[in-house]
Amino acid sequence: MRLPRSVETADVRGKVVLVRSDLNVPLDDGQIADDTRIRASLPTIRLLLDGGAAEVRVCSHLGRPKGPDERYAMAPVRARVAELVGDGRVSVLENTRFNEGETANDPGFAHELASGCDLYVNDAFGSAHRAHSSTVGVAEILPAYAGLLLLDELVHLGRLLGEVERPFVIVSGGAKVEDKIGVLEHLGGRADEVLIGGKMAEDVRAGNPFSFDVVLPTDVVAASAFEADAETRVTAFDALPDGWPGHENGPATREDFAHRIAAARTVFWNGPMGVFEWPAFAEGTFAVARAVAGCEGFTVVGGGDSVRAVHEAGVSDRISWISTGGGASLELLEGKELPGVAAIPA
Ligand code: 3PG
Ligand code: MG
Repeated sequence: MRLPRSVETADVRGKVVLVRSDLNVPLDDGQIADDTRIRASLPTIRLLLDGGAAEVRVCSHLGRPKGPDERYAMAPVRARVAELVGDGRVSVLENTRFNEGETANDPGFAHELASGCDLYVNDAFGSAHRAHSSTVGVAEILPAYAGLLLLDELVHLGRLLGEVERPFVIVSGGAKVEDKIGVLEHLGGRADEVLIGGKMAEDVRAGNPFSFDVVLPTDVVAASAFEADAETRVTAFDALPDGWPGHENGPATREDFAHRIAAARTVFWNGPMGVFEWPAFAEGTFAVARAVAGCEGFTVVGGGDSVRAVHEAGVSDRISWISTGGGASLELLEGKELPGVAAIPA
């Protein structure tokens, strides 16, 4: 894999540096539910400060707002960065997606971001699959370098690209189903088994959209409504009562998935098995987290929600590589060159 040039080769003394990090953290009622992505972004910021940068402007998107939207303001993230870094040279810009030019990779917005800056460092691995103004546009305006996290991710995830130890098991779930079907179609063919749970399993219930066999839940926890305290019932996957959405894997499925994961030599997990933010529907996701932690092979977990689940299950120190990328890690594993990476010279 082609590695982009590292921020470690840049002379940043006295420079104003624009850093694109992925600070798109999960929020609960406006509070940061998991700050993994913020912490993972600190080494690059500290490197720039230690290197004598005059100013470090950190930018990121948060959520999927379609313009200015108070619910996705960067304030809580900015406060956490200040708490963790405590250096007046660092600022966190407002949510890049508050500007409608961002997702269109509008050069006008890229120039706005680049204005007054000498260098650009892209450390946002989680957003490297997006060709946006802050991930690609600015790299065409300012001298561009890769951040430490971005490089680390490429090196570790790269291990899944070549020959892997088998069985290679992929576990997929989560809510952003439309993002994942196409990617899984490419990636799943390289795996020995693809286990699908959560919302994704609900969406493929009507028929397998893939050109390979997938392992689906045999039982699910169904709920009377999409609510945290809904009435629940364990039912067969193919016998949900009318109007009862499936909320997560049932007990038999948890055990089946855990056995398959335990037998693997390489595991890649992206996307929770259900609405694990609600305690009544967390066990299916936590069971996968514990199984991945217990697997003796090379294990990779990617995506904000799965990473949060791994932390909440208390097993993060037993995962080989926790990726800050969800969609980005999927697209990398699909064999695509990520636009955010391609925009940085080697
Ligand atoms: C993610 O959480 O997957 C990244 O931050 C990218 O976000 P997006 O899928 O909204 O572009
Ligand atoms: Mg995504």
